[in-house]
Amino acid sequence: MSGDRIDALRAALARSREGATGPRLDAETFLGLRDLIADASGIDFDENSRYIVERRLLPRLRALRLDDFASYYRSLLFGEDAEAELERLLEAVTIRETYFCRERAQLEALRDNVIPEVALKNAESRRVRIWSAGCASGEEPYSIAMYVASRPEVAGWDVQIVGTDLVASAVEAARAGMYRDGALRAVTDEQRARYFTCDAPNAWRLDETVRRSVSVERRNLLDGPPQGSEPFDVILCRNVLLYFGEAARRRAVEVFHDSMLAGGWLLLGHAESLLSMRTPFRPVHLGRDLVYRR
Ligand SMILES: C[S@@+](CC[C@H](N)C(=O)[O-])C[C@H]1O[C@@H](n2cnc3c(N)ncnc32)[C@H](O)[C@@H]1O
Repeated sequence: MSGDRIDALRAALARSREGATGPRLDAETFLGLRDLIADASGIDFDENSRYIVERRLLPRLRALRLDDFASYYRSLLFGEDAEAELERLLEAVTIRETYFCRERAQLEALRDNVIPEVALKNAESRRVRIWSAGCASGEEPYSIAMYVASRPEVAGWDVQIVGTDLVASAVEAARAGMYRDGALRAVTDEQRARYFTCDAPNAWRLDETVRRSVSVERRNLLDGPPQGSEPFDVILCRNVLLYFGEAARRRAVEVFHDSMLAGGWLLLGHAESLLSMRTPFRPVHLGRDLVYRR
């Protein structure tokens, strides 16, 4: 597990540490839960994260009126509601932190370097296909739409942007297109004025044109690309792989490679890289970033 990842998870739970009470997650049950989570999502929690998993799942035990984690684990294996509970578990343990225009320099490079090149290549088909894998509540694919729409080369083209996420509630939030102040913390004044309407304090409605230009669906990216999708020109999977174990990372890279046109682009988050693994992708510089090409 990377130091970045441990820090991110610890920071997310730091406030709940003080005065923590309730049942403790023993080592054996933790291993069972860890395997269930890894099988269902690719996310890998190591022993250092046991306390984090405990704190995140405690509300589920309370909701189900269970006294201990062993009972909770059994309910996930054998309970009548096991499938739905697995979803709630994933909702509880995933980190879905995101915001509009995150890693702005990379989005600008997408607009200024990648899209013009894709436009030249696709001049005949006049199509662009972009996948935001692990899109959380939609801020990433909608930001992509804002940046890509401003490129004159693809004005009037068939541009499809699809976002996918494992967690159903994140997908619902993305579809709703309503956001709090924090989600807009990195947008410029111009973007705020152009793409958002303030409906009430701390409630921003995303512009309808942007919302309609993106489709969002629930999907485990390890199961493959969005259903019925055509090969992609660009795939962004940012701040997702850093939570995955080695095998899941390899599988994700395989999925991206198989879902992409020759010459396609794979953009990861700043804290992520494929340099430590064998991959069919070619690392290239894009602005200040290292990105990958098929
Ligand atoms: C930290 S957020 C990153 C969101 C966005 N890409 C960004 O960089 O702002 C990670 C997202 O990946 C999703 N995720 C984790 N495992 C996944 C999987 N196997 N398939 C699809 N989404 C996954 C989580 O539900 C979460 O919403």
